[in-house]
Amino acid sequence: MFYTKELKVLDKSNLLRVRKIFSNSYLDFASNDYLGLSYNKKLLKKAYKLAKTIQWNAPRASMLVNGYSKLHLLLEQKLAKINDFESCIIFGSGFLANIALFESLCRKNDFLFIDEEYHASGILATKLLQDRVVFFKHNDENDLINKMKNITLKKDSRILIAIEGIYSMSGDIASDRFADIALSNNAILIVDEAHSSGTLGENLLGYFDYYKIPNSPNFIKLGTFSKAYGSYGAYVLSSNHIAQYLQTRAKPLIYSTALSTFDTALALVNLNYIIKNKKFLYKKIQNNKKIILKQFKVKLDSQIFSIQFNNQMDMINKANLLQKHNILVGAIRKPTAKYPLLRIILSTKHKKKDIKKLCNLLKS
Ligand SMILES: Cc1ncc(COP(=O)(O)O)c(C=O)c1O
Repeated sequence: MFYTKELKVLDKSNLLRVRKIFSNSYLDFASNDYLGLSYNKKLLKKAYKLAKTIQWNAPRASMLVNGYSKLHLLLEQKLAKINDFESCIIFGSGFLANIALFESLCRKNDFLFIDEEYHASGILATKLLQDRVVFFKHNDENDLINKMKNITLKKDSRILIAIEGIYSMSGDIASDRFADIALSNNAILIVDEAHSSGTLGENLLGYFDYYKIPNSPNFIKLGTFSKAYGSYGAYVLSSNHIAQYLQTRAKPLIYSTALSTFDTALALVNLNYIIKNKKFLYKKIQNNKKIILKQFKVKLDSQIFSIQFNNQMDMINKANLLQKHNILVGAIRKPTAKYPLLRIILSTKHKKKDIKKLCNLLKS
């Protein structure tokens, strides 16, 4: 049989993954549903109504053929405006957007400097770049500076730097110094905001909002609709120049069908909801973090509360214990994270008593 040996090894190390349907009765601390929008049926109905305003149920083709609709355009315009970027392009997913950015923007003499804990989609894309990739230590701007010094650039070389706004596994925020380093070296800074857009900053817009960094043509922001925005798909914000280049060269945009019209409508409706309710949502996020501070003396950067374990079985046992008490958390194995992790998402939909129940079980 194919792959028997590999499967045996994975099984022996407790690394086999399973797909499972969980009952609705669980208290859900595992989803990236930061603002609880995935449960909001009012917004779902609104999105359905909006999706019906266009003639086609499905995008039917790539955006560069005739898959582009007025819903895509409206959502792009709104995102560009609120984030203060010149341009926005919607992608089929964050995974595709990362592949698109690295593969198309890092040309022959260019170099990509990337955080070692960047998302798997970005890491996969680096394999296409051969020796034009340099990894720097996680969230370590000094290591980045040193590694940049060690590279010999050609006259026309561009430097690209890739970080995440909030890191998906550890939940820590990227340092604001990466923006300074990019500007002072005339580098392009790519910030994957999958976990920070909708959750971080006074306006819930992410890294640039949190640090109040004014926009620059050097910055690219990648956001997803699949997390706080309660839908599916992704977007890339950039200068007009970069957007024009991406839509001409980025293969996941050109050779893949446009984002589904319904997901686009849902993202648009949810985005409007977030803008309208940002003060309330912001406050709820801070209040949830305060509970963890009080219970564990841990000051969270984000809504991700990660607990590291030395070995896989201890982590799995703890996750199973929580499940017995009807609580679902992320049980993250290697190689997704360096160490086995319980990844707990504090959503605005959680009640105070739910978080306290979780805390008590974690302590037990
Ligand atoms: C940091 C980061 N970037 C990109 C992605 C991929 O996004 P998507 O799920 O839209 O493909 C994810 C998550 O899944 C992520 O956590």
